[in-house]
Amino acid sequence: MKITYIESNGTRHEVEGSEGQSVMEVATQNLIPGILGDCGGTCSCATCHTYVDPDWLTKVGTPDDDEQGVLEGALEVRDNSRLSCQIKLTAALDGIVLHLPERQY
Ligand code: FES
Repeated sequence: MKITYIESNGTRHEVEGSEGQSVMEVATQNLIPGILGDCGGTCSCATCHTYVDPDWLTKVGTPDDDEQGVLEGALEVRDNSRLSCQIKLTAALDGIVLHLPERQY
């Protein structure tokens, strides 16, 4: 399934991921700049912060309390902020578009 990451400078990266992978895992495997994933996806570092494209917000959903707590440590948190390690790929998310923050810390 396809994922598009768009850097803050507008550079687009279209890559393929598999169902069950997190959007952070797909990004780090494909060396997408701007997603670090320092904690390995255990929802404790916030270096996988992304902005969900408005067209995808409903399908992706909102963060749970744990994620929300960690997100508060990220820079420039917005209404569409999510930790990409907490977004697991499903068929419904094929084609998802994520915007990358200018920096993670
Ligand atoms: S990889 Fe650390 S919170 Fe997502």
